[in-house]
Amino acid sequence: MTTSSELLDLSPVMPVVVLDEAEAAPDVARALLAGGIRTIELTLRTPAALAAIEKVATQVPDIVVGAGTVTTPEQAAQAVDAGAAFLVTPGTTDALLDAVTGTGLPFLPGAATVSEAMRLAERGIDTLKFFPAEASGGSAALKAFAGPLPHLTFCPTGGISVTNAPEYLALSSVGCVGGSWLTPKEAVVARDFATIETLAKEAATLGG
Ligand code: 3PG
Repeated sequence: MTTSSELLDLSPVMPVVVLDEAEAAPDVARALLAGGIRTIELTLRTPAALAAIEKVATQVPDIVVGAGTVTTPEQAAQAVDAGAAFLVTPGTTDALLDAVTGTGLPFLPGAATVSEAMRLAERGIDTLKFFPAEASGGSAALKAFAGPLPHLTFCPTGGISVTNAPEYLALSSVGCVGGSWLTPKEAVVARDFATIETLAKEAATLGG
């Protein structure tokens, strides 16, 4: 089992993927893998998401597939049933934290402030998602977090692109960044997997 911290070490960028059709999921995952990206976060924002996770988990075993945008205990359970290998939450409530902890899977709970990060640290969690990263102060805010909270590691997400990703990846508290730019909706709809592979290749070299 991969730990949350090992998950962040797999690739410099965690692709945050929104799919309207589950059928596209395996080819999207293969294109990311071909580009050198070893994780995929499929967000539970569409009705197709759980089926997409199931297809990737069974058809593309070489990529580590997780569920993102997990906001309720029910969704955490559904993601486990679909075969998710990790869970990502945009923010954290006590009930949600209990549920994701109870799955036994690695997870990245969302926090946007020092107090939220401290509450998670109190529960023994040291690997977090910083969301929404750009709107919450960006890399400057995250750099400031590391003063009082040097033991925490983050996956910042929200408003990150190939242009500003290096600012985050330069911080010792950042394990990887998350972003949706690797899988543009137009490319997925057009089944333009070559573009996704090209974007993945570029992302895979970041932070190196
Ligand atoms: C997420 O859920 O992590 C974000 O919505 C992704 O943000 P982005 O689309 O700005 O990359």
